[in-house]
Amino acid sequence: MKYFLDSAKIDEIRYADETFGIDGVTTNPRHVMLSGKPFLTVMKQLSEWAKEKGFESWRDFPISVEVNPHLEKAADMVAAAREIAAVSPCFAVKIPCTFDGIAAARQLEKEGIRTNLTLVFSPAQAIIAAKNGSLFVSPFIGWKEDNGEDCKKYIQDIVTIYKNYGYYAETQIICAAVRTPKQIVDCAVAGADIVTAGLAVFENSFKHPYTGQGMGVFTEAWDNTAKE
Ligand code: E4P
Repeated sequence: MKYFLDSAKIDEIRYADETFGIDGVTTNPRHVMLSGKPFLTVMKQLSEWAKEKGFESWRDFPISVEVNPHLEKAADMVAAAREIAAVSPCFAVKIPCTFDGIAAARQLEKEGIRTNLTLVFSPAQAIIAAKNGSLFVSPFIGWKEDNGEDCKKYIQDIVTIYKNYGYYAETQIICAAVRTPKQIVDCAVAGADIVTAGLAVFENSFKHPYTGQGMGVFTEAWDNTAKE
């Protein structure tokens, strides 16, 4: 399963890439706001970093950038997506899963602009993303679980449907808004292609209290070992 960093902060992206390693990046308007930088600056930084790294396209390292959420009409989303895609060959354009968003994503994929159908909250929405050939579909996990839903079956159902119809790995399933190590594991068990999460979520997932306890045990043993 691939790990994408859900962040628009270039320092975090560099850090994650240089330490534990990431396979892609997802951003959204909230992440751009949290970066403290204007949208165009964020896109420029992401594009320059991808170039520095030698990534030639979304095949090497996909970076999702979302269209302005004020845009409601398909034609306006398509126009905005063309501008975003022109900034970097690594960019996949995030389009909301509204009626017009679906039409926009369908048109963009026909033009060869790769899309990530986002704000997906049901398997039915995930089906249309795959039917129209989106590169990614982003079912949100955290937002649903914050509201008391268990998302294990939700992800399993999407994976099963994709396998039933040959969509699996063609439209890659990005489990989005992942907040906990348990959610990462649920997504992996279900067979999701990707999880996207913030830096702290990944860092937490690498920790276990027994690992720390074990380090204490081994350090003490080391210190009490007979000397040469
Ligand atoms: C996914 O692609 C989204 O950017 C993200 O996971 C949404 O979650 P947030 O609540 O962390 O912004």
